[in-house]
Amino acid sequence: MLSFSTSRTVAAAVGILAASQVVSAIDSVSFDSGTYGSEETPYQTYTSSPALTPPELLIYSNTSDAITDGYVFFGVDGTSDSGQMGPCIFDMSPGDRLGTLVWTSPDYNKTFDVSLQTYKGEPVITFWNGTLLDGFGHGSYYILNQSYNEIVHFSPVGYEEYGDLHEFRITDDDTALVTLYIIKQGDLTTVNGTEDGYFYDGAFQEIDIETGELIFMWNSSDHVALNETYNEIGSAGDETTPFDYFHINSVTKDVEGNYLISSRTTWTLYKINGTTGDIIWRLHGRNSDFTVTDADFKWQHNARWTDTTAQTHISIFDNQGTNDDTYSRGMLLAIDQDAMTAELVTEFHNGDSTWSMYEGNLQCLNCSNLDSGNWFMGYGNQPYFTEYSADGTVVMDVQFAVDNAVNSYRAYKYPKTSWVGKPTTNPNISWDTSAEGVYFSWNGATEVETWEVYTADEADSTATWTQVASGARAGFETLLDISGADLSTYVRGKALDADGNILGLTDATDGTSFYTLADESTPTTSSSGSASSDAAAASSTDDDDSAAGITAPSTVFGGVALVAAVAALVM
Ligand SMILES: *[C@@H]1O[C@H](CO)[C@@H](O)[C@H](O)[C@H]1NC(C)=O
Ligand SMILES: *[C@@H]1O[C@H](CO)[C@@H](O)[C@H](O)[C@H]1NC(C)=O
Ligand SMILES: *[C@@H]1O[C@H](CO)[C@@H](O)[C@H](O)[C@H]1NC(C)=O
Ligand SMILES: *[C@@H]1O[C@H](CO)[C@@H](O)[C@H](O)[C@H]1NC(C)=O
Ligand SMILES: *[C@@H]1O[C@H](CO)[C@@H](O)[C@H](O)[C@H]1NC(C)=O
Ligand SMILES: *[C@@H]1O[C@H](CO)[C@@H](O)[C@H](O)[C@H]1NC(C)=O
Ligand SMILES: *[C@@H]1O[C@H](CO)[C@@H](O)[C@H](O)[C@H]1NC(C)=O
Ligand SMILES: *[C@@H]1O[C@H](CO)[C@@H](O)[C@H](O)[C@H]1NC(C)=O
Ligand SMILES: *[C@@H]1O[C@H](CO)[C@@H](O)[C@H](O)[C@H]1NC(C)=O
Repeated sequence: MLSFSTSRTVAAAVGILAASQVVSAIDSVSFDSGTYGSEETPYQTYTSSPALTPPELLIYSNTSDAITDGYVFFGVDGTSDSGQMGPCIFDMSPGDRLGTLVWTSPDYNKTFDVSLQTYKGEPVITFWNGTLLDGFGHGSYYILNQSYNEIVHFSPVGYEEYGDLHEFRITDDDTALVTLYIIKQGDLTTVNGTEDGYFYDGAFQEIDIETGELIFMWNSSDHVALNETYNEIGSAGDETTPFDYFHINSVTKDVEGNYLISSRTTWTLYKINGTTGDIIWRLHGRNSDFTVTDADFKWQHNARWTDTTAQTHISIFDNQGTNDDTYSRGMLLAIDQDAMTAELVTEFHNGDSTWSMYEGNLQCLNCSNLDSGNWFMGYGNQPYFTEYSADGTVVMDVQFAVDNAVNSYRAYKYPKTSWVGKPTTNPNISWDTSAEGVYFSWNGATEVETWEVYTADEADSTATWTQVASGARAGFETLLDISGADLSTYVRGKALDADGNILGLTDATDGTSFYTLADESTPTTSSSGSASSDAAAASSTDDDDSAAGITAPSTVFGGVALVAAVAALVM
């Protein structure tokens, strides 16, 4: 399906902030969805961070007073030539930085379920990385700290190769819930197979992350008959193509210690006794214990209690359909476990009513406030994410790649206050001496508000660094205009936070090479010269800046420093 249809207007190409620099992405980018997996899906590049190629976002709509302040985490899964791989964080808060990159990593290939969770009391990035097989994965689980360093990497217990991509949740006890697709042999005659056929058992484990101890394991085949499936066996069922009758795709644990799981192919949610593994109830499907009203779902993903204590509501992503004749939707269901009823409360879908054949998720952004909290939805195998108000109204509608070429298993939004990125790398600089600007970026740093440019004759500990410009951070990359500045051989930059604290220093560069300097070469504004007296003059009118000696650029070279976020489109 072609989604860059005329039914929607592209508000802006993102990554380019200055209004005068906004390009029409429709004109400059080919979104021909016929070329599955080609390199034609658009991505961004940055002069000062050449290693990064994150997706180009197209924001169809954004209602600034209704969008929450937050970062969106997702794992881009494109083909190897799509330029789109790896975990990403984008700033999706209303304002000038809406849609700009915060962090991405070229170090991981296929990352699924990229999210922000808490481990040992600290915010962490979690994801699965590995090899995609036929709709599931063989890989392992990763935890990165706020410096983007890998602090944990583990596999399922007893099944090193079997770590599946569909779930990686960390519980309040710092255990992990993960899924496994285990090949087993059995009698497939009730599903038109052979007496000694092969199928995938839908399993999950709860693992103590620190000790690696297996806390709990559950196999679907011990509890759910093969003929509960809605999947067609077709030519599957032999050793090379086991029948995927269950397709487990989400697991969570409630405060009572019971699990809620979702099976795509039985169209059923199961509540599992956390001690015995027995099924407490089935919601929907061939053997439903619930009466389900206005909420028939098919091939669904991501079942979540909005509150595991109260257990009055479940949210799911309902893929629906087996072809393009329908649309996928998020659903909030009211659950009554006494009356055994499930009723649709709210339906969520984007402006184009996108249909997503597989993957996808729905997230309450304020689960304790279902009446007015926003919702966030990732479209899974179609490259869209959407934010909604509580009644399902779209408040932000985004596409990040060509349809069918790139997917993101899930997408999540978290408040900006919940993630402080503190990379241990240095910030990056790029200075083309023939041009009159310096580019700055710092992959993953969230606190930078100001960039300062310094120049010196040497690039060693004897250097005296003189400030020549400064400007506010734009988006991921900031271009500071240094035309008219009195430049020496070397240039370097300093990153400051909102309070003027120094966060980091770039290498020095002469435009061709980079020179990593020891700490004593830290540029300061205390050196004699016009820059420092200008800094004093500037700081006298701005108390907040005085400590760091942020110089008003206009006093340095008699003009307003031009600041623009820059990102080139690559086709
Ligand atoms: C957000 O919406 C506003 C108002 O329609 C528009 O001016 C702005 O360009 C949009 N921002 C982006 C990044 O698309
Ligand atoms: C930052 O610049 C260095 C060169 O100094 C380069 O090796 C590195 O790849 C750049 N980082 C990114 C994220 O592109
Ligand atoms: C990613 O996968 C491609 C092939 O699919 C491979 O060429 C490349 O080396 C991989 N990169 C990493 C970082 O694993
Ligand atoms: C990601 O998974 C691939 C495939 O299993 C593997 O080759 C690669 O080493 C993993 N990447 C990292 C950084 O562990
Ligand atoms: C993350 O881990 C690395 C390596 O262990 C460590 O150097 C760094 O300080 C940690 N960062 C944070 C924010 O904890
Ligand atoms: C689940 O299946 C695996 C593989 O056959 C087996 O080792 C395990 O004992 C089974 N049952 C449970 C409850 O883990
Ligand atoms: C599944 O097969 C069993 C016999 O093995 C049968 O009793 C049962 O009714 C079947 N269930 C469905 C949903 O077809
Ligand atoms: C088995 O065959 C029947 C009759 O063709 C069909 O209705 C049913 O969907 C098939 N079941 C599976 C699991 O393929
Ligand atoms: C969630 O809603 C509650 C109740 O209205 C409110 O107090 C709280 O601030 C909200 N939290 C967020 C993160 O918006």
